[in-house]
Amino acid sequence: MTVKRRFLKKVLLVLSVLLCVPRCLSGTGASRSALMVVEGSEPDEEAQVSDDEDPEDLEVFQPTDQWQELRPGQAVPAGSHVRLDLQTGKREAKLQDSPGEGEEGRQGTVNTESQTFTAQELKKALKHFKEAAVVPTDEEKEAAEALRAQFRPLDELKKDMEVLGMMMETDFQIMSRLLQQFNSSAASLEERVSALRELEYLVHQVDNAQDFITIGGLQLVIGTLNSSEPVLQEHAALVLGSSLSSNPVVQVESVEGGALQKLLLLLATEQPLPVKKKALFAMASLLRHFPFAQQRFLKLGGLQVLEALFLSPGGASLRVRAVTLLYDMIVEKELILQHGLDPVPDASHEARLRQYSQVSLLPQLAERGWCGLVPELLASPEHDMREKALRALLAMMPPCQELYRGDRALAGALSLLQEQYQGLAESERGFGDEDSYFGELLGLVESMLGKLR
Ligand SMILES: *[C@@H]1O[C@H](CO)[C@@H](O)[C@H](O)[C@H]1NC(C)=O
Ligand SMILES: *[C@@H]1O[C@H](CO)[C@@H](O)[C@H](O)[C@H]1NC(C)=O
Repeated sequence: MTVKRRFLKKVLLVLSVLLCVPRCLSGTGASRSALMVVEGSEPDEEAQVSDDEDPEDLEVFQPTDQWQELRPGQAVPAGSHVRLDLQTGKREAKLQDSPGEGEEGRQGTVNTESQTFTAQELKKALKHFKEAAVVPTDEEKEAAEALRAQFRPLDELKKDMEVLGMMMETDFQIMSRLLQQFNSSAASLEERVSALRELEYLVHQVDNAQDFITIGGLQLVIGTLNSSEPVLQEHAALVLGSSLSSNPVVQVESVEGGALQKLLLLLATEQPLPVKKKALFAMASLLRHFPFAQQRFLKLGGLQVLEALFLSPGGASLRVRAVTLLYDMIVEKELILQHGLDPVPDASHEARLRQYSQVSLLPQLAERGWCGLVPELLASPEHDMREKALRALLAMMPPCQELYRGDRALAGALSLLQEQYQGLAESERGFGDEDSYFGELLGLVESMLGKLR
């Protein structure tokens, strides 16, 4: 972004110099138009600058080794550095940095960033300012024409500038454009989905996600959660989930915008699997580190909804996601209560503690029978799913311990896992693995077994 902007400034500077030089050299242009193009102005304006200045009054700028402001109408002698402040439009000039260089050709050049002109050429131009009464000779006109021909036509330069302008499109502009595309009644379903896909990429950035609220995108996306097109629902949930990730501003705005209810509705009703997966993702992002939303989630019957999801046939991947969501909430609260999120507890720490203490997840989990649901996940053939189940079981131990102690099936399943992971951990050690994955799983199994005794 800044690199692009700097590049554009440079182009403008060079452009302004190029536009001036042929005219300046031919002696027919008003010197005060020299280098006057500033950022954003049309190069054409140069032509409108009046030519009524009396060339006899022309002042010659006296450069020193310091930057000094150039006043309109001042001529710059050869051998000066000229720079243009694109913010203010002011020109400044000074002597070249290394006056020690003896050769005329080098010492007497003007640094225009991309082009240099010999002292001879500029002296000639300067002479014409002084002798304005003298009409340029044909020869001089020809020379000017030739010089002009070396530069690219103005139209071409303008086209390049337009391309540059397009390259400069900011994330904010892109999001506005995509949102318009998405919201257009003329857009096809594919176009709308593709707009959501591109938006999803952009809203990962915290600043972009907040701009997304400003331009009305968040509300539009929340509204799309109950679209009649599953593919739109799915991608709207994905955009929502991405913009919510680690972004408290979006979290608050989403709860206020009714996202919680809409996501719960998606999870509670019959929907294609991809829609449910993305809705669960958005829900997890909405609840993370946001005890207020967690409390609302519980009040609105979130646990019943997850339960139905867990028990629905064909949703193995949903099952583990639902349990992971609950596990994250349990652990998050525990960490806050034990250590606090902040290295140094501040005033908001107390408030947060109070909010978390109102999230009574564990008792409700036990009440709703989740103690009996989670062990089912141990039957999964996937290590990853088992790991999540083991961690969740350990987290749920306080309210579930009594039940688990009497659960012979659970004890049997854990013993089998213990045996399996002992073997796997051993072969892992054989390969010299220090951070043993199976060793870690074995550790989880064994602490579970320890709690059942
Ligand atoms: C989407 O379109 C509707 C109807 O054309 C309009 O009222 C609304 O402001 C638009 N929303 C956004 C965020 O552009
Ligand atoms: C989505 O829900 C809103 C209110 O919750 C309702 O006004 C709108 O008609 C619904 N849209 C669809 C497509 O069901």
